[in-house]
Amino acid sequence: MNSFKNKKILLIICGGIAAYKSLELIRSLKKNGTQVKTILTKSATEFVTKLSVSSLSQEKVYTDLFDHELESEMSHIKLSRWADLILICPATANTISKLSKGKADDLASTVVIASNKQIFIVPAMNVRMWEHASNKENVLKLKQYGYKFIGPEIGDMACGEYGEGKMVDPYNIILFLEKYFLNQSSNKKFKALITAGPTIEPIDPVRFISNYSSGKQGYEIAKSFSDNGFDTTLISGPTYLEPPENMKTIKVKTAGEMYDETIKRLPVDVAVFTAAVSDYKITNYSKEKIKKKKDLTLKLELNKDILEYVSKNNYLRPKIVVGFAAETNDINLNAKYKLNKKNCDLMIVNDVSKKETGFGSDFNEVTIFYNDNKNEKLKKMHKANIANEIVERLISKLN
Ligand code: CTP
Repeated sequence: MNSFKNKKILLIICGGIAAYKSLELIRSLKKNGTQVKTILTKSATEFVTKLSVSSLSQEKVYTDLFDHELESEMSHIKLSRWADLILICPATANTISKLSKGKADDLASTVVIASNKQIFIVPAMNVRMWEHASNKENVLKLKQYGYKFIGPEIGDMACGEYGEGKMVDPYNIILFLEKYFLNQSSNKKFKALITAGPTIEPIDPVRFISNYSSGKQGYEIAKSFSDNGFDTTLISGPTYLEPPENMKTIKVKTAGEMYDETIKRLPVDVAVFTAAVSDYKITNYSKEKIKKKKDLTLKLELNKDILEYVSKNNYLRPKIVVGFAAETNDINLNAKYKLNKKNCDLMIVNDVSKKETGFGSDFNEVTIFYNDNKNEKLKKMHKANIANEIVERLISKLN
């Protein structure tokens, strides 16, 4: 099956010596039936001509942000929406730096910032530039935004030096994109459900009990599923996060509401329970605001365990059930216990006593426990990258 057929790629060529290789890339994409529109940055026009790009792509080539012709036939916003994906190849240190700071001072950077599509970056630069601390910081930031990097590779460079920074050759870029498109279409048949955030349990009309969960890890997992083509549903407790694009987000408050909404959305193929569900609810909820007094006793009763109920239910159980355990002590022991008790396929545990990876942090450090007694520790990463690592493993389990 040709996964490129009828796909639309917006190619951005930046000004680097590797720019000539993008001509070969356009040729291969065209041969596979892909429609390629191209933007050349100002410095790219020093390395390749508009004429050669338009001859190969058989499309108009765009260069200027303030181009009357562009705005009348296809505005820069329409251009950013037209594509199935945006490929920046080669991407220079300057463009990477601009994008990491959200600059929009030319057509290429404006279109990238205005895009709601997956962005792929193929860096090409001298080894010292690639390894420079500022470039490393910019790359990390873009990865955190969800941009995918293809390369760079280690090898001999046009400048005569040797090291990391060499552009991945067009053949391997094609292979990479092919895998992405294949994943997109083969995962389309799968449904994913994610619970995220805290739940709250009202005490009276103005007070509640809850926990510190920010919901960030769960939202990132939902985004990663959606980016990989899954039909995704996110059931979220109260958080300050924006509902992610391209998925159904259902907002709930209490554990009871989260339970009801979860059951309504089953069956699914994979369910990831990242929510920090309140274990207890108030039995003596007061309809009126409780007045200040010397002693106050709250009576609590256990909430239903959503994960355990779903994973032990023969009719509702998704093919893969993943639990999350936030622990402060005896981490491995608790994780294994919960994996078995809650009948999960995977139990992912993090140490919430660590400030830099605990509640509210953008980073996480987790260990994945599998139901065949194996476990795997992932290094400390941004929650978006942890999400991608987890979803990658779930996709290979599903397939
Ligand atoms: N969970 C759930 N419903 C609950 C409680 C927990 O679905 N009522 C799920 C969480 O979403 C998580 C897993 O169970 O995936 C483990 O949650 P955790 O709070 O760590 O475990 P508990 O069973 O509540 O155990 P404890 O609080 O004693 O550590």
